[in-house]
Amino acid sequence: MDNDTNPLLSIRNLKTYFEMDEGTAQAVDGISFDVYSGQVVGVVGESGCGKSVTIKSVLQIVQKPGRIVGGEIIWRVQQADGQEKLIDLAQLDAQGKKMRSIRGSEIALIPQEPMAAFSPVHTVGSQIIEAIRLHTAVSKKEAKRIAIERLHEVGMPSPEQRMDAYSWELSGGLRQRAMIAMALSCNPRLLIADEPTTAIDVTTQAQVLNLLRKLQQEHNMSIIFITHDLGVIAQVADYVVVMYLGRIVESGPVDDIFHNPQHPYTMALLESIPTVHSASKEFLPTIEGSIPHPFNRPAGCPFYPRCRSFIPGTCDTQTPSLQPVNEKQSVNCFLHHQTAVEKQN
Ligand SMILES: Nc1ncnc2c1ncn2[C@@H]1O[C@H](COP(=O)(O)OP(=O)(O)OP(=O)(O)O)[C@@H](O)[C@H]1O
Ligand SMILES: [Mg+2]
Repeated sequence: MDNDTNPLLSIRNLKTYFEMDEGTAQAVDGISFDVYSGQVVGVVGESGCGKSVTIKSVLQIVQKPGRIVGGEIIWRVQQADGQEKLIDLAQLDAQGKKMRSIRGSEIALIPQEPMAAFSPVHTVGSQIIEAIRLHTAVSKKEAKRIAIERLHEVGMPSPEQRMDAYSWELSGGLRQRAMIAMALSCNPRLLIADEPTTAIDVTTQAQVLNLLRKLQQEHNMSIIFITHDLGVIAQVADYVVVMYLGRIVESGPVDDIFHNPQHPYTMALLESIPTVHSASKEFLPTIEGSIPHPFNRPAGCPFYPRCRSFIPGTCDTQTPSLQPVNEKQSVNCFLHHQTAVEKQN
């Protein structure tokens, strides 16, 4: 990681809501975190906690009726003259020229739906070439050379031949590599990988994680890595953001999150990681209770109905906020912070 003091990306109090006839889903509800140059930030949490909506907000590709209703997404841009400029992505027109030029070239995405990344009617090669030419003024021949180089770099066997393949002809692991090659085709400063290894087997998963880490170091890229699996986070991330029902419950460096977790939800997630000592997956502890529907968010701390450290009269009536608990970690929990009432007294 660079010793840069300014973050490349700074998300501040981001709120993205889906307003529907049945009610408003507060999918992302006031989250803040930074991504520094060369850093891998892991975002973890159970299904529906708002991981994908967070990164779709950064890229301004949230599906309607979802929309950013508050907060800032500050992106540090390097201009041609070497000067740096701060742009609030949340204020840009989603279809405007500026956002389109940032999306795909400065910030690239490996989407959660693998089949969504490639069109089934065009070859993998032609799509990577098109992505390169969309953002860089190079000839078709030069774009083809770069595309083959990228496929080679991600370990695609016989890259020249694979240029002519359709995505559905590739195995899961090879399609994943092609997606990474496409995402890296324009040398992004930030790569966002949304559950990039969920659909592939464990061995291929380990290879893809190693590959991402290697490419990240070679290109000094930043990565936001999204997963519901803390085991994967341990292998790739420098810094971890734990989400629950649209909020951040804990954040901190990966070692501290694993060895000194502060939030009961983080602790429960850690206990649910399969270990070599577990006799069988069936005996693993799972977190009790189910996630409330976003329309029915409980009053107070959203995690209290499932929390084993629940403080009656406090956690169900007042809402905690994310605050530093030591030099490195922040936590959103009344076990660590005073309530508003306690502060008054
Ligand atoms: N297209 C949509 N229409 C309505 N609500 C949506 C839509 N997409 C997301 N949401 C709401 O936003 C919440 C967060 O969704 P999101 O896709 O970010 O979850 P996630 O953390 O990425 O989950 P997963 O691990 O399953 O991918 C959902 O629980 C849902 O309430
Ligand atoms: Mg998702």
